[in-house]
Amino acid sequence: MLLSTRDLSVHYFTYNGVAKVVNGINLSVHEGEMFGLVGESGSGKSVLAMSIINLIKFPGRIVAGQVLFRGENLLQKSNKQMTKIRGGDILWSRLIPSPDWIL
Ligand SMILES: Nc1ncnc2c1ncn2[C@@H]1O[C@H](COP(=O)(O)OP(=O)(O)O)[C@@H](O)[C@H]1O
Ligand SMILES: [Mg+2]
Repeated sequence: MLLSTRDLSVHYFTYNGVAKVVNGINLSVHEGEMFGLVGESGSGKSVLAMSIINLIKFPGRIVAGQVLFRGENLLQKSNKQMTKIRGGDILWSRLIPSPDWIL
């Protein structure tokens, strides 16, 4: 197993209440495998991806779960270790959406 999440949950603690954005996600990606995540706008795809690289910012918090990368829990790594992993083994790349993609 290359990457997996176990019961991963991310909540945002806002003035208007708690937004439970990611709730108990379990996913597994094997070496050499392509993994696609599909969901409507606002369903939590980006928040899930950000939680995998441990970049959830206030007022958001990973409230439960694990992110295992090559058997190690990324949520227990130091900032320094994570900085090395981000852009090293795990790359966050964002494409600018184009109207041409929407058919
Ligand atoms: N800083 C924040 N405070 C409160 N809610 C947030 C914050 N960031 C994201 N959310 C909520 O998380 C949900 C999922 O957002 P997002 O992961 O960007 O969706 P997607 O990438 O699937 O379009 C949205 O409904 C959004 O309102
Ligand atoms: Mg998104």
